[in-house]
Amino acid sequence: MTPKHVAIIMDGNGRWAKQRGKERIFGHYEGTESVRACAEYAVEAGIDYLSLFAFSEENWARPEAEVTELMHLMAKSILEEKTTFEKNNIRFMVVGNRSRLSADLNRDIDEAMAGTSANTGLTLVVFLSYSGRWDIEQAAAAWAAAGAPQGRFQDFLATAGIPDPDLLIRTSGEQRISNFLLWQCAYTEFYFTDTFWPDFRKNQFRQALDEFASRQRRFGKTGDQITQENNDSK
Ligand code: IPE
Ligand code: IPE
Ligand code: MG
Repeated sequence: MTPKHVAIIMDGNGRWAKQRGKERIFGHYEGTESVRACAEYAVEAGIDYLSLFAFSEENWARPEAEVTELMHLMAKSILEEKTTFEKNNIRFMVVGNRSRLSADLNRDIDEAMAGTSANTGLTLVVFLSYSGRWDIEQAAAAWAAAGAPQGRFQDFLATAGIPDPDLLIRTSGEQRISNFLLWQCAYTEFYFTDTFWPDFRKNQFRQALDEFASRQRRFGKTGDQITQENNDSK
């Protein structure tokens, strides 16, 4: 089965560059090519939501020069990819603590979101200045302020309206969640690959989807129950 929602922790840009004797930023630039390739492949594969972890709340602690370059790259990509969004009917969204982003970047984000809001193909969600704990904390405050309606906590998360990820991919060999979608990944399938993000393109993405298709998701039930349910729905 094709996952409805794939989330990716795009890691390993710095090491990819270092392997080539280049500055870390070179890896970040090459990584934007992978973003385009993966977004286009997600469209081709019929995925509805592609979530990309681009910059975490913790990444603000990196050297100032790298943070500045990453923010510059973000703005540049958003402007340059407008044609990709139009060509592929992509709806673009940014999720995260946007109060920490510059006014200029926020304006570019708003423009790109408004300009693609009517697109009905893939929804591309870029997580910027995001952390799972930040999200849960801000949701808890809003939920409490609304009178703590039972069973509706997820409606207050920054990802409200977006289904939970079916598959989470992390590149570069690290096997951790690094404060990404903590609440939302309760039943997500994890896929880890040693490939650095700048080398993760269509074929690597397809391999992850093949692996996902071979998994049996049980959501707490027994394997026999799931087999029965699948037979019943045939
Ligand atoms: C991922 O690559 C991009 C961001 C976190 C912004 P890294 O920059 O973390 O690359 P490595 O992990 O140092 O190789
Ligand atoms: C996770 O990568 C965040 C993003 C990909 C945006 P990091 O490189 O920041 O993660 P750690 O520090 O290795 O856990
Ligand atoms: Mg990293």
